[in-house]
Amino acid sequence: MAGKKIIVSNRLPVTVKESQEGDIEFSPSAGGLATGLSSIYKEEGNLWIGWPGMIDVDKKQEKTITKALHKDNMFPVFLSKQEIKKYYEGYSNGTLWPLFHYFTEFAKFDDEEWQMYVMVNQRFCDAILQNASDDDVIWVHDYQLLLLPGMLRERLPNATIGFFQHIPFPSYEIFRLLPHRVQILQGMIGADLLGFHTYDDMRHFMSSVSRILGYGHSMGNISVGNRLIAVDAFPMGIDYEKFEQSARSRKTHTVLQRYKSLWQDQKLILSIDRLDYTKGIKRRLLALDRFLDAYPDYKGKVSMILLVVPSRDKVGQYQQLKEEIDTLVGNINGKHSRLNWMPIHYFYRSLSFPVLSALYTRSDVALITPNRDGMNLVCKEYVASKVDRKGVLILSEMAGAAKELSEAILINPNDEGQIVEAIKSALEMPLEEQSTRLLDMQQKLKRYNVHKWVDRFMEGLTVIKNRQKELDAR
Ligand code: G6P
Repeated sequence: MAGKKIIVSNRLPVTVKESQEGDIEFSPSAGGLATGLSSIYKEEGNLWIGWPGMIDVDKKQEKTITKALHKDNMFPVFLSKQEIKKYYEGYSNGTLWPLFHYFTEFAKFDDEEWQMYVMVNQRFCDAILQNASDDDVIWVHDYQLLLLPGMLRERLPNATIGFFQHIPFPSYEIFRLLPHRVQILQGMIGADLLGFHTYDDMRHFMSSVSRILGYGHSMGNISVGNRLIAVDAFPMGIDYEKFEQSARSRKTHTVLQRYKSLWQDQKLILSIDRLDYTKGIKRRLLALDRFLDAYPDYKGKVSMILLVVPSRDKVGQYQQLKEEIDTLVGNINGKHSRLNWMPIHYFYRSLSFPVLSALYTRSDVALITPNRDGMNLVCKEYVASKVDRKGVLILSEMAGAAKELSEAILINPNDEGQIVEAIKSALEMPLEEQSTRLLDMQQKLKRYNVHKWVDRFMEGLTVIKNRQKELDAR
């Protein structure tokens, strides 16, 4: 593949903020995607294009931010308050997010938000055109930018365009509810290669393409007129070594020592998510309540660390969920607490990496029960952190990761009774079984880490481009 490589996502791998003193502050993302893609965008000449996370930036600030980001191979797309409201909070997170996660009752269909989604995708396209040429490789990420591959294809017909969807792609019966389903699919098929986390997402996408657009598919290829495009499953991995090494590190050890006496004789159940209705947090709490009712001997012996990371707090459903979780935690703690014990330790914020690593390392059980999740990386991070191979993962069947982590205790997140029994089984699982299950999962995750994910996707792009060339030459 010739040309330079450009990564495009709604958010840049750095968040820019204005401090109280009016200074511009940059905080780089430590997330898996940023780490995995750093091998690409940090290379000389390559680029990452996206929103820097700050709203309504004035011209002087724009200049400062652009210059600073430029040094690190990043190019900002600035968005106004209105654009964020209608494109990000509106169409992306009020329409596509709920619909693609099967929360049809939450999805709103608003024409103004749709128009803004089109306009902002066009803004991203213009930003790319300022930087790209026809022989470049452009890798677009996620549901905020579904129209972008099509827009790019029109302007750069020979460019190599990849698209990866980080959230589920719903079944045709759900996807067809979307008023602008035709435009969305036409946007997506501008790519040469479309990647999804699971085979099911990929199948759902191809079924919608054939039923809505009428393009047939065979063996993961779709013929769009004379163009052949590829669709494949690329389950995203984590930066395995980072979690493994951190679990062994002095920093993590220091945190563990500090809380040792507090956690002594306590079994810990870990729950970590962004605040989101797709994560199944409420049912998880109700299951814990039921567990303590059903098995009162565990009172005083087991507690849950509930870490909820603030997210999309301007969107109504997220605000409401926050209130519901606050109430539930209060009710459960009020009902079961003792003077020297509390069932839930609730944190509504982010925690530092060493604390996170200590929690992964120390927790006896990770309880991860999303109603629907594209992949879920928290469960993978938990498994990678278990260097002593003691711990049990309870995982929802509805997370993409369940396809790979079959050695977890898999549950249906709507079956509260099953979650209750899974908690009991996890707490009572013999150490030898814990170790065997963890080892199997660790071997898979170590091999298919985030770097492998990036390599496989890039290889897929080369393969489809070569096939297209062969077909054109015939
Ligand atoms: C999910 C999405 C990402 C998104 C992230 C955080 O993982 O797939 O595209 O960046 O959530 O959400 P936010 O709305 O804060 O970007």
